[in-house]
Amino acid sequence: MRVLVSGGAGFIGSHTVVQLVAAGHDVVVVDSFANAKPSVAGRIEALTGQPLELHAFDLTDHDKTEHLFAEDSIDAVIHFAGYKAVGESVEKPLDYYENNIGSTISLLRAMERHGVGKLVFSSSATVYGADPPVPMREDLPTSATNPYGWTKVMQEQIFRDVATASNAAGRSMRIALLRYFNPVGAHPSGTMGEDPADVPNNLMPYIAQVAVGRRERLGVFGDDYPTPDGTGVRDYIHVEDLAAGHIAALGRLEQVEQPVSVWNLGTGEGTSVLELLHAFERACGRELAYEILPRRPGDIAASYADPSRAHAELGWRAEKSVDDMCADTWRWQSQNPEGYPSG
Ligand code: UFG
Repeated sequence: MRVLVSGGAGFIGSHTVVQLVAAGHDVVVVDSFANAKPSVAGRIEALTGQPLELHAFDLTDHDKTEHLFAEDSIDAVIHFAGYKAVGESVEKPLDYYENNIGSTISLLRAMERHGVGKLVFSSSATVYGADPPVPMREDLPTSATNPYGWTKVMQEQIFRDVATASNAAGRSMRIALLRYFNPVGAHPSGTMGEDPADVPNNLMPYIAQVAVGRRERLGVFGDDYPTPDGTGVRDYIHVEDLAAGHIAALGRLEQVEQPVSVWNLGTGEGTSVLELLHAFERACGRELAYEILPRRPGDIAASYADPSRAHAELGWRAEKSVDDMCADTWRWQSQNPEGYPSG
C-alpha cells in the first residue's frame, strides 16, 4: 500500500515509518517540523536502507495538502501530526484547536476529493477523561480535562461523522482510532528515540535526561495517591509495540465491516513513577536522584488499558517489558545525549 504518514518525523511516527517500510509498504511522510528535527530523516533511511520521501509542510495548508493528494496516488493515511503538550494547550488553546482540528479537516477534505478511504488516527487514552475506572475499555464514555484532550475527543467525533456520511453516500471509508496509553522506549539500535524540544513534560524522557546528566533530579509529582507506593500509575508501552499496532490496524481496515473501529494500545500493566525510576536505574547502572513534589494539577492516580479488544481483533499485543523500555531509552539517550543533531 502507498501510505501517507503525517507527523512521520515525530517520535511514534518515525518508528512506524521504519516498520511500514519493513512490512513492504510504500511510504510518503509529511511533517511540519514544528516538533521534530529534520535529521531524523537520515536515521530512518539508515534503518530502512531506502531514501525517504518527505514533504515539509503543515497540513493546515489546504493548497499544499491538496497538491500532494493530486500528485500522488495515496491508498491510506496514518495521521500522527498534531500538538501534544497538555500544559501548553491550557496556555494556548487556540493554537491547539486551530492546528489539531484544522489539520484533520484539511486532510479529510483532500482524502474525500481524491477517494482515499482508509485512515489510522493517533488518539489517546486522554479521551477517557478525569476519573475513568481502570482497566479502561473502549466503550467508556469520552471527555477531557484540557484543550489537548478535547482536540482528541473532537477529532474522534469528526472522524465518526465523516465516516458515517461517507458510507451513507456509498463510499467505503474505514477509520481506526488508536488510543495510546503512555508511549516510551526507543528503537533498539539506539539511533531513534524521543527528543523533546524543551524541558520534558513526560516522565520517561525526564528520567533519561537525569541519567545522562542534563537534569539534576527527577521531581516526583505526588506520593499520596491511592496506589501501592503512593505515586501515579501508568501503562507504559514500548514505541516499537505501538508502531506494530498501527501496521496491524492498517491491515485490519481491509476487512472490517463498520466505518469506525476503536482500539486501545496498551500493555494492560500499571507501573508507578518510582517503579519506572528504579527500572531505569537498573538499565543505566546507577542510582538517580529524585525529590517528592506536590501533585501535578490534572493528573489522575492510575491509568491502564484493557487491551483485550486489540488482541482479539488485531491479533496484536504488546511484547516488550518495562526493562526493555528502559534499556532501549537508555541506549538512545546515552548515544544521543542532546537528542537529534540540529540542522
Ligand atoms: N511525573 C512525575 N514527574 C515528571 C513527569 C511526570 O512524577 O517530571 C508523573 C506524573 O505525575 C504521572 C506519571 O509520571 O503520574 C506519568 O506522567 P507523564 O507526563 O509521563 O504522562 P501522563 O500520563 O500525564 O500523560 C500521558 C501523555 C498525554 C496523554 C495522557 C493520557 O503525555 O499526552 O498520557 O493518555 F494525554
